[in-house]
Amino acid sequence: MSSDQVLAPATESSEVPAEDRQWWKSAVVYQIYPRSFADSDGDGVGDLGGIAAKVDYLAELGVDVIWLSPVYPSPQDDAGYDISNYLDIEPVFGTLAGFDALLAAVHGRGMKLVMDLVVNHTSDEHPWFVESKSSADNPKRDWYWWRPAREGMHGGDPGGEPTNWGSFFSGSTWQFDPDTGEYYLHLFSRKQPDLNWENTEVRRAVYEMMRWWLDRGVDGFRMDVINMISKDSSLPDGHPHIGQWGDGSPYYINGPRLHEYLQEMHREVFAGRQGQLLTVGEMPGCTVEEARLFTDPARAEVDMVFQFEHVSLDQGASKWDVHPLRLVDLKASLGRWQAGLAEVGWNSLYWNNHDQPRAVSRFGDDGEYRVRSAKLLGTLLHLHRGTPYVYQGEELGMTNAPFQQISDFRDIESINHFAEAVAAGQSPDSVLIGLRTMGRDNARTPVQWDDSANAGFTTGEPWIPANPNHRQINAAAALADPDSVWHHYRALIDLRHREPAVAHGDFTMLLPEHEQIYAFTRRLDDAELLVLANVSGRTAIADQIPHAAQWENSELLLTNAPAPEPSQPRLSLLPWEARVYRRVVRSVIWRG
Ligand code: NOJ
Repeated sequence: MSSDQVLAPATESSEVPAEDRQWWKSAVVYQIYPRSFADSDGDGVGDLGGIAAKVDYLAELGVDVIWLSPVYPSPQDDAGYDISNYLDIEPVFGTLAGFDALLAAVHGRGMKLVMDLVVNHTSDEHPWFVESKSSADNPKRDWYWWRPAREGMHGGDPGGEPTNWGSFFSGSTWQFDPDTGEYYLHLFSRKQPDLNWENTEVRRAVYEMMRWWLDRGVDGFRMDVINMISKDSSLPDGHPHIGQWGDGSPYYINGPRLHEYLQEMHREVFAGRQGQLLTVGEMPGCTVEEARLFTDPARAEVDMVFQFEHVSLDQGASKWDVHPLRLVDLKASLGRWQAGLAEVGWNSLYWNNHDQPRAVSRFGDDGEYRVRSAKLLGTLLHLHRGTPYVYQGEELGMTNAPFQQISDFRDIESINHFAEAVAAGQSPDSVLIGLRTMGRDNARTPVQWDDSANAGFTTGEPWIPANPNHRQINAAAALADPDSVWHHYRALIDLRHREPAVAHGDFTMLLPEHEQIYAFTRRLDDAELLVLANVSGRTAIADQIPHAAQWENSELLLTNAPAPEPSQPRLSLLPWEARVYRRVVRSVIWRG
């Protein structure tokens, strides 16, 4: 059925002034991965009660928004990103009543709560898919991507898959269903069938569900792989590159109808709503030019996107092929995004999330300079133009986990990759190197609340062990220590709230070719900020920056290191030192 008419356009309300709609420019978002945050009932899995008990902790840190990774009913094949009911809460996490209480507590502290929206796919246990699979002529058959075997092949035979696309979680993107003799598409696990957004009923059901949550009081959505919802329906083969599989991404990343769908979603769900909402689209493979379109307020698509360029710079042909990051590459990439979204659109800023290894282990020094380098990374991120996201435990400087063997891992991506790579002849030890460095479980070990058993995360057996370094690295110790990473993050968040140049100032990269120093300025009217960071374990001197002498004598707003010795040049930086200076720039107006 063609039914773009079924979804009537709504008109944008003029009642919320534009500045208020962009409240998120001066906001900081904190991501909670519920399984690993705090467990209130001793079953070893974090839950809503655990989050509710930490709302004061988050308010004290000063964050404005909490983004909850999925808490919906789910078989947990991909830790909740496989949803079997969009309108309820997974029992292991709590109940809808518990959710409402949490939302009220969050709102009561002046914070907002954003849900994860996972609508590229459902769980294969979602009733929509159960129906779709039940027969080839079921009315919901077309809600998913069903296709016969490749021409001349039999379903289920090797090579019979409708396309050669490789899944993000290893193997083919196609699963054969012997009962109906066809394959269904799953870009992720076989328990995550892709919804067919070409079908109007699918889109209508998704929008209805989104309105249901907004009516309940949530403040927006983080949209999981939202730039994969529009596929090239001719489903061509991809360029062969992932082992035996081809790269289908040109046919499902930023597909032909994506802008249309996002605009329709905006009209159907957000337009005319009162209140301050936030939408952020997770968009792997998104370029800065495309991001400008997605986040141009005049186009009414999403407020900001998560892009992946900067977290791919230390990877080769695949995410497991790890090599050292070159600072000049990082500056070139982030600098390009700053420039590209300077006039139109908006950046989201992140080092960490539940899919990335811990930033201090990846980009900093998680040994001798753990505290200082974690503060440096926070300083750099929060001082860029854009909305910063803090991932749970980042504010404590939590590190990667000491995983040894494959049985230490829980994540389907790591487990499947290990099996596939070893079956293809790679040595288990070499595969484990990639998993230890890039594996998503690094982000998923329990938040380290104190130095007691299981880091104070649970009184039971945690679903994944706490990092043994919780004896030293934990929230209780960090709160008690004014020099901790936590207090530095609080100061950064506070600075964004107090100093308009942080949220609204323009951005100029300095010393782009310098191999140790990351430096930039932010300017708003008469206020100019300078951020200087030595991203290395060796001292560095930043006297090449423009107006160095003036900066030397300007106000030092924030630093992560002791004041320089009087005998040292003021712009010499200790290993991993970061500073933020402020000066007032008086414009001379010629009145002759
Ligand atoms: C992106 C999510 O961040 C990740 O955790 C998940 O595995 C995939 N999308 C599939 O939903």
